[in-house]
Amino acid sequence: MRIGVLGTGYVGLVTGACFAEFGITVTCMDPDAARIDRLNRDDVPFYEPGLAELAAKGRRAGRLSFTTDFARTVDKAQVVFIAVGTPSRPDGSADLSQVDDVARRLGRGLTDYAVVAAKSTVPVGTAARVRDTIRAHQARPVDFDVVSNPEFLREGSAIGDFMRPDRVIIGADSERATAIMKELYRPLYLIETPFIVTGAHTAELIKYASNVFLAAKISFINEIANLCECMDADVQTVAKAMGLDKRIGSKFLHAGPGYGGSCLGKDAAALVHLGDEAGAAMHLAAATIRVNEQQRARMVEKIRDTLNGVRGKTLAFWGLSFKPNTDDLRDSPALSIAARLLKDGCAIRACDPEGLAAARRALPALTGCEDPYDAATGADAVVLATEWNQFRNLDLDRVKSLLRAPVLIDLRNVYDPERVAACGMHYVSVGRPAVGVNPYKTS
Ligand code: UDX
Repeated sequence: MRIGVLGTGYVGLVTGACFAEFGITVTCMDPDAARIDRLNRDDVPFYEPGLAELAAKGRRAGRLSFTTDFARTVDKAQVVFIAVGTPSRPDGSADLSQVDDVARRLGRGLTDYAVVAAKSTVPVGTAARVRDTIRAHQARPVDFDVVSNPEFLREGSAIGDFMRPDRVIIGADSERATAIMKELYRPLYLIETPFIVTGAHTAELIKYASNVFLAAKISFINEIANLCECMDADVQTVAKAMGLDKRIGSKFLHAGPGYGGSCLGKDAAALVHLGDEAGAAMHLAAATIRVNEQQRARMVEKIRDTLNGVRGKTLAFWGLSFKPNTDDLRDSPALSIAARLLKDGCAIRACDPEGLAAARRALPALTGCEDPYDAATGADAVVLATEWNQFRNLDLDRVKSLLRAPVLIDLRNVYDPERVAACGMHYVSVGRPAVGVNPYKTS
């Protein structure tokens, strides 16, 4: 089987490399010639564990190729994936200009029957819009189907998520298209992945409903964390006990600085917009967004309060990416908290295993550091902002000896409070009582 993938962003590249690994012949297309050049030199333009190796393997085997040539990509492809960006507009709605653009080109470029599969997260009704646009731009009638095939992969574990998904969603209105999509995903069928075959509207909504539900879980536990702080309770234990109820589940109940990344925030805003347009207000989604914004502000307040104000002080920041195992800084809570603190007049010595260079471009005032010990050197406190494994088991006695004051503010609840206190440090986390003596509060 031969497929084309339009767009070599995160979803497009992972999709292309993984299908090539399944033995499919894949052509990935992007109009950005510099990006295609890099990909043809096995240089993946972002960090995702295992992706560069998988792409190189596919290319060596002759199953994966990269091009700027649209016609070559769709020629003889049985399935063409749309994996272009759908950024948020200021009003929260999804900007579909790139989707519309490739639909117009597909109208002009399809020469034989193909399934056009939308992988990008798109508002309900987009599959129909793509179908109409393709049709309107055909010089002569060529048969095709448009299906919605939303992707659920997470950054940092994208390949595993693609190869072993919890489910595959196929939103199609034609049996022919459904059969081709099932054939394409046959390796997953063999490992008994559940397939949900449904209409395009339902498939499109599944993606939003799933992502916004995850965001709501995070906002919920963050509100509970705030309540725990007022009541001397421990959110970790609350979350653990809640998660043992199988109806609730233990995932996405980790309190912290709020969610970030390219999907959850964008999808929550898009769902609110979709609900408003449809006359079915999405109150929970709207509250989820508000709570997430407040959570970041609360973290800034927590840091300011611990240090009696940050003006003139130096903070060590461990972690800048929106979550571990990625260099992605989009909507990163760590970065936005750092930006607000810099505005308050402090200095920040930051480290991040993959995201430092881009973070320094976004916030040139950051001082880049080699590692967490370097960052802590001479700082007035440490802020653990993203829970990279590299930060989980540090020598706290050494950290303490490098700091000007022994204060660790852990926005990801990575450390055990008793262990930190035993090292003689003041430890502040999220939704758990602070421990140890705060050197900034003793007069
Ligand atoms: C998300 C969805 O999980 C995925 O299915 C979809 O395809 C894309 O969007 P991703 O953005 O890569 O994936 O990351 P995810 O692991 O979902 O984390 C999102 C944010 O939530 C991160 O900032 C993370 O730190 C935060 N988070 C996650 C929490 O604060 N607490 C949790 O318990 C879980």
